[in-house]
Amino acid sequence: MWEGGSITATYHVPVLAGAVRAWAEGGRRAVDATVGGGGHAALLLAAGAEVLAVDRDPEAIAAARDQLGEGGIRYSTGAFGSAKVLGTIETFRPDRILLDLGVSSHQLDTDVRGFTFRPGAPLDMRMAAGRGVTAADVLNTWPEARLADAFSQLADEPRARRLARAIVRRRAAAPFATSDDLVNAIREARGPRSGPADFARLFQALRIVVNQELEQLELALPALRATLEPGGRLAVITYHSGEDRIVKNAFRDWSRPCVCPPGQPVCTCRGRPLGRVLTKKPIRPAPAELRDNPRARSAGLRAFEVTADD
Ligand SMILES: C[S@@+](CC[C@H](N)C(=O)[O-])C[C@H]1O[C@@H](n2cnc3c(N)ncnc32)[C@H](O)[C@@H]1O
Repeated sequence: MWEGGSITATYHVPVLAGAVRAWAEGGRRAVDATVGGGGHAALLLAAGAEVLAVDRDPEAIAAARDQLGEGGIRYSTGAFGSAKVLGTIETFRPDRILLDLGVSSHQLDTDVRGFTFRPGAPLDMRMAAGRGVTAADVLNTWPEARLADAFSQLADEPRARRLARAIVRRRAAAPFATSDDLVNAIREARGPRSGPADFARLFQALRIVVNQELEQLELALPALRATLEPGGRLAVITYHSGEDRIVKNAFRDWSRPCVCPPGQPVCTCRGRPLGRVLTKKPIRPAPAELRDNPRARSAGLRAFEVTADD
């Protein structure tokens, strides 16, 4: 909830609020492409912008609408990289676009959505509830090597092969259905001393796979940038090193003077960068924010500004 300038969110506490507020300053039409419970969207509205709120989770759109109503804000349900949503964003002609990646506290805390390793939760993890493959589908059908690669690359899991082997052996006896099945496989692979930090890391990797989050981000970033008005700004808050790498590399490439495809013999882009990086390093939460909201601990904000017209 947004009350007179202080945030009392129960759905999700927006991270890096001060940095988002500073970045939003001067914006007139802002897209919150991951609206969640509407905490950041409330900041954008308070900064005087008209807001387009997007989320692929219909429950999030409903919660944001509940909090923020209809004044100065419109809503669109879908993935920010989908053709439908990109078309809506383009028509809106934004000068600010914010992405706050990952899942909301509400999604994490709603056991039935299956993002949690708490006992008895279904292995679902789909952000767009009811659409696409579930975490159980991935665990029950993916070949061992593919599972191992996912846990190794997305969770830096040193025992990824052992974990994948345990999953394949266990699913032959009974298909994976609940969080306990994966927690038990992790305990088998990593030993009895494995704990919540390991479960969180490996469940997050599986969620990233289920929702194809890195692929979506990589494809969507240039398309979103292209919708910005001259002088407009994009900000992305990431929570995972794979996400951060994609954003960092995209921003670096866009700020190069020549953006012709590699190997093109003659430069046709006239040597003008697409814009400039506003954050040399990601902005991280201050200790006070981490004390109040431990879930912000891995957050980092990077921002980019597209070149203004001459
Ligand atoms: C960390 S929460 C955002 C919280 C929000 N900033 C707030 O202040 O309440 C991330 C949200 O992004 C949504 N999301 C993640 N990936 C998405 C995508 N590709 N397209 C649209 N929404 C997405 C999730 O459903 C979730 O609601």
